[in-house]
Amino acid sequence: MAKILEGRTLSQNLMETLAEKVKSFEVSPTLVIFQVGDNKASNLYIEKKKEFGSKIGVNVKHIKLPENVSLGDFEKQIERENNDPDVHGVIVQLPLPANFDSDRLVEKINPKKDVDGLTGENVKKLLTNDKDAIVPATARGVISLIDFYGIPLEGKNVVVIGRSALVGKPVAMSFVNRNSTVTICHRKTQNLKEITKRAQILVTAMGSPQFIDKEFVSEGQTIIDIGINTVSGSKMEEEVNVAKKVVGDVKFEEVKDIVEAITPVPGGIGPLTVASLFQNLLDCYQKLRK
Ligand SMILES: NC(=O)c1ccc[n+]([C@@H]2O[C@H](COP(=O)([O-])OP(=O)(O)OC[C@H]3O[C@@H](n4cnc5c(N)ncnc54)[C@H](OP(=O)(O)O)[C@@H]3O)[C@@H](O)[C@H]2O)c1
Repeated sequence: MAKILEGRTLSQNLMETLAEKVKSFEVSPTLVIFQVGDNKASNLYIEKKKEFGSKIGVNVKHIKLPENVSLGDFEKQIERENNDPDVHGVIVQLPLPANFDSDRLVEKINPKKDVDGLTGENVKKLLTNDKDAIVPATARGVISLIDFYGIPLEGKNVVVIGRSALVGKPVAMSFVNRNSTVTICHRKTQNLKEITKRAQILVTAMGSPQFIDKEFVSEGQTIIDIGINTVSGSKMEEEVNVAKKVVGDVKFEEVKDIVEAITPVPGGIGPLTVASLFQNLLDCYQKLRK
């Protein structure tokens, strides 16, 4: 049976450390989250951020804009938060409705308050391995968990499935910055199973429920499952409309007796992503108030 890499445990430790840190600050840090419309997944993620923020003594200001908000008005509101000295982090919750240019709006965020690490300035810092880079929360969480369990990264053969700007690429770059040798895979990758089997660390950021089965893995591997997918439960559960269950990209039960270490879903990278976001916020706070 593989070692289970418990993100929840580390997230709890981080929560306590961050709460202590906030107590030592002169004023409470403030995070502003802009949301457009009423995307259900976004509502859930924002609730989790509010919950974590309140536990560590951070103010989370949720600004919900209507779907018909004009681009100009949205930009002005971002600008207002950029200029407010009492605000230390600004997030545009993604995805935005299709008619919005997400890149343009994210780029409006002051890079010093860009706790998601998605502005051009911060992406460049990640690419150049600048020590001041604000690393996107999921990538920071993945590396924190691996470090927590003392898994070495230097010279290791890492395979990342997924190449999104939000998850796959920042995760891959974070491994490169730690001297791993990284292969990035996607839908056009040929012989995926052969590539994943050769990995020492396999990271999945696909959004494909339980796609990775025993055919894709081999002994001695560490598996980091970033995927969060909601699927229906059993037929009977569906009939009585029981809440859907959350699974990762990996068939956990099937591979857990083959590989050396694995993250569970839920309870793996998910809770760490939230904690890492608040690490980013506290870093921004400290730099802004220097
Ligand atoms: N744990 C967390 O805290 C956290 C945070 C953020 C996101 N997530 C989860 O992470 C997953 C990925 O998110 P995302 O925003 O990066 O999704 P995304 O933009 O849809 O990207 C998915 C990536 O996976 C690749 N992919 C999908 N199916 C594949 C297949 N069968 N074979 C090879 N490659 C495949 C896609 O390849 P192409 O580029 O060729 O299409 C794409 O690059 C989702 O489940 C999301 O919910 C988790």
